[in-house]
Amino acid sequence: MQNFIFHNPTKLYFGQGQLENLQTELQSYGDNILLVYGGGSIKRNGLYDQVIDILKKENKNVFELSGVEPNPRVTTARKGIEICKEEKIDFILAVGGGSTIDCTKAIAAGAKSEDDIWDIVTKKTNATGALPFGTVLTLAATGSEMNPGSVITNWETNEKHGWGSPYTYPVFSILDPNFTKTVPKDQTIYGMVDIMSHALEHYFHHEENTLLQDRMVEGILQTMVETAPKLLENLENEELRATVLYNGTMALNGMVNMGYHGDWATHNLEHAVSAVHDIPHGGGLAILFPNWMEYAIDENIGRFKQLAVRVFDVDPNGKSDKEVGLEGIAKLRAFWNRIEAPSRLSDYDISEESIEEMADKTVIAGPEFGNFKKLNRDDAIAIYKASL
Ligand code: NZQ
Ligand code: ZN
Repeated sequence: MQNFIFHNPTKLYFGQGQLENLQTELQSYGDNILLVYGGGSIKRNGLYDQVIDILKKENKNVFELSGVEPNPRVTTARKGIEICKEEKIDFILAVGGGSTIDCTKAIAAGAKSEDDIWDIVTKKTNATGALPFGTVLTLAATGSEMNPGSVITNWETNEKHGWGSPYTYPVFSILDPNFTKTVPKDQTIYGMVDIMSHALEHYFHHEENTLLQDRMVEGILQTMVETAPKLLENLENEELRATVLYNGTMALNGMVNMGYHGDWATHNLEHAVSAVHDIPHGGGLAILFPNWMEYAIDENIGRFKQLAVRVFDVDPNGKSDKEVGLEGIAKLRAFWNRIEAPSRLSDYDISEESIEEMADKTVIAGPEFGNFKKLNRDDAIAIYKASL
């Protein structure tokens, strides 16, 4: 395990009724509030009205940016930045899923910068500050509610990039599982695959002596394997929603990955697919992750064996370590098939024709990516071909 410093300043309110704390939280900030949300799910399920009531009770001047897209666009972030600068916004409130929160992070940083937000996203320049912002989360998936990361898409250049800064942690996040009950089945599946993928990205590293970290990551995966099929049978079950919601936050808030760096090549591969085809992030991960695992298994067979035995109950007796590892990958694939996640790029009508273009996108930030196994453009092509 490497040395580390851990600091996560986001205050988390978790559970039924926690929205009542929004009022007190808002009292710490000025009067001009930018409310950011997506395509309307919060209006349909009543959360919008509840939030507006609280903002009114505090006599806030509310400005709105609605219509944040899944795979949020830099053009939308720019609109939000303009509102912040023109209206002297004091605080931003994001109400929605990872896309709304990620867009809010870009707005918050862009509002405090003279540079274009795309230059910050592409790391040509750094964020030098951010407006304070809080979130009310409505979809369990990304962990964006308790991390500084943000993923933004530019449709002029077909690029989708992750970025983050010490300034882009939410100051608070309110997580009530009841707000996630209306997430439709397909988005629930994508979210659960994303959560498991974050755990898997952490798991593949070469660091020694990460006993507790391994068990925590395995715990997230085991809990998801146990809970996901039950939730899909009963989408309005509050306890199951709560379990998945807590898992989603824990999978990417820095708690389980102290002292080592995970791989993250599969996320880079997926962002490249989404940048060209605008598919849901979790759908892309379900297709790519098992194929990346088969491609990377020889890098450290022991990690794959441990995952297979501990998470997927593979019996190692009489088998080589690699056979055990491969059986674990097959079981992951079977599990994702069972919960009806997509398994082939062709499920999204993506064919061989776009492979070269997607592969180009994987190496925009540099010729190599991934930590556990270093990949280059040719490797990306091989993994995309296996995923067709
Ligand atoms: O836009 P609305 O109308 O709100 O509908 C959304 C959207 O259509 C809907 N939805 C959300 N909550 C709902 C609901 N529908 C009914 N009831 C509710 N309670 O679900 C759809 C998808 O929402 P979105 O926010 O796009 O999903 P998600 O949270 O999965 O976010 C995906 C984005 O996050 C990025 C992805 O790349 C993608 O752009 N990621 C962000 C990360 C981070 N910041 O740390 C890490 C991740 O690995 C990921 O890359
Ligand atoms: Zn993800």
